[in-house]
Amino acid sequence: MRTPLASLLLISTFLMASLAAQVMASPKQTHANNSKALVIAHRGASGYLPEHSLAAKALAYGMGADYIEQDVVMSKDNALLVLHDPYLDRVTNVAEIFPGRAREDGRYYAIDFTLAEIKQLEMTEIFERKDGKPKQKYPERFPVWKSSFKVSTLAEELELIQGLNQSTGKNIGIYPEIKAPALHRAAGKDISLAVLKELKKFGYSKASDKVFLQCFDAHELQRINSKLMPKLGMDLKLVQLIAMTEWGETLRNNAMGLKPEPYNYDWMMKPGAAQKIAEYAEGIGPWFPMLVDRNTGKPNHMVQEAHQAGLLVHPYTFRADKGQVPPQFKNFEEYLAYFYNVVGVDGVFTDFPDRTVKLRDSL
Ligand code: G3P
Ligand code: CA
Repeated sequence: MRTPLASLLLISTFLMASLAAQVMASPKQTHANNSKALVIAHRGASGYLPEHSLAAKALAYGMGADYIEQDVVMSKDNALLVLHDPYLDRVTNVAEIFPGRAREDGRYYAIDFTLAEIKQLEMTEIFERKDGKPKQKYPERFPVWKSSFKVSTLAEELELIQGLNQSTGKNIGIYPEIKAPALHRAAGKDISLAVLKELKKFGYSKASDKVFLQCFDAHELQRINSKLMPKLGMDLKLVQLIAMTEWGETLRNNAMGLKPEPYNYDWMMKPGAAQKIAEYAEGIGPWFPMLVDRNTGKPNHMVQEAHQAGLLVHPYTFRADKGQVPPQFKNFEEYLAYFYNVVGVDGVFTDFPDRTVKLRDSL
């Protein structure tokens, strides 16, 4: 979903600025102290175990992540599920267990299945079907169908993290993302309200609690800030995720009879945006190439402006797999160090929490 042409151009211009980037990564120009920057386990330790499995969350916890991420969607019977996107078919055997239950677009939507049905599915590493066979997206990761995992509910995952917090004496945070609020609204479901109520039930309600609540949908985040949280007596830290418009990440309903249109994110990358976002959020979650000037490879205005507006900056997603480290960096660690030290981010979403913690702790 995230490789259309314009995105490839953006990332390639970032990569082409290699010489400038290497110059900037010299010690003289690094920020002196970014050792407090966060390590956010992206879908768990997903470089090692299937994303969003409880095993991947426990591993991320053991690897020392500061926060563990949960992407959240709803089932037909309103259970909150920890799944990256509204579909079941990229990580489960839903097509085998429930043939004929796909929508016209060929996808199996979690929102069309009950929790009891979803619990019958086996979950695995991300795959797509090529010539009828499952092909792993990241071939060197945990093998598909070599072990059995289950889709978890948000409650199951919060119980795991809070249980580990008790047994280890640590206080590791959570980083839930409300996925596709418009899709849920179209099915008569208020996913944001449901997630907030669940978080409150688990004791997350104040700004000082170890939770960041994230969403790509700016209108929904504003609604959470100005309507839902005040109504529920909550005041969580909110993070505005930033997508490329062409990804079609957030579809907005249009005038009656017209197809929904992708929300236009361009304004969020322009000077002045941080002040506007700071009116309703405590941080931004950009795609990492957005923070670097396409031509020079130097950090652009975004981190500086965000900090001036009082916003934290947590870019996504740092992966160590083959082909995922931009070529101007010697290795994953140098790539991370550049973003922590030179770009000056306040945390990163990473699939490899162990290596990220080690690097961050060395800063
Ligand atoms: O939420 C931060 C990052 O996870 C955003 O991208 O698609 O992996 O949820 P995605
Ligand atoms: Ca996410």
